[in-house]
Amino acid sequence: MRFEGVRFAYPDGTLALEDLDLHVRPGETVALVGATGGGKSTVARLAARFYDTDAGRVLLDGVDVRDYPLATLRDRVGIVPDEPFLFSMSLHELMRDRTTIVVAHRLATIGLADRVVLIENGRAVASGTHATLLATEPRYAAVLAASGREVSA
Ligand SMILES: Nc1ncnc2c1ncn2[C@@H]1O[C@H](COP(=O)(O)OP(=O)(O)O)[C@@H](O)[C@H]1O
Ligand SMILES: [Mg+2]
Repeated sequence: MRFEGVRFAYPDGTLALEDLDLHVRPGETVALVGATGGGKSTVARLAARFYDTDAGRVLLDGVDVRDYPLATLRDRVGIVPDEPFLFSMSLHELMRDRTTIVVAHRLATIGLADRVVLIENGRAVASGTHATLLATEPRYAAVLAASGREVSA
């Protein structure tokens, strides 16, 4: 799944995503991490077509998500909100073999992902493994620290 230059504002005018680029490979699980209000949930909503972009495109296997029947799209792309009641086992079940986007609030969930993307002010500002981002992106460590999560590689 690929977001290309995506811009999105809610009906009340709140700009949520601005020129966001994101690539999730087939079968890959990506955790979206970032401060509240940065746009993580909005990315998930656009991936599942609860909303459509104002500019830019969201593609699945190179085809615009607007060209898929909704049921097909939502079957092929797993969107996981990482609620506290989701245990690692059920997360594993949800992620198996699917292209999966997780809005990650817990370090345990981040650890299940193949890759982490840091979302800030409506953009994807960094991408890598948890350990790599922790070592190279002060903003990533800051987000984890600010949300009270244990910071460890
Ligand atoms: N339903 C909505 N209507 C208007 N603005 C919204 C709505 N949902 C989110 N927003 C705004 O969009 C921006 C991104 O929010 P969101 O995607 O929820 O971020 P996150 O999930 O990272 O906390 C914020 O400014 C937020 O206030
Ligand atoms: Mg959210």
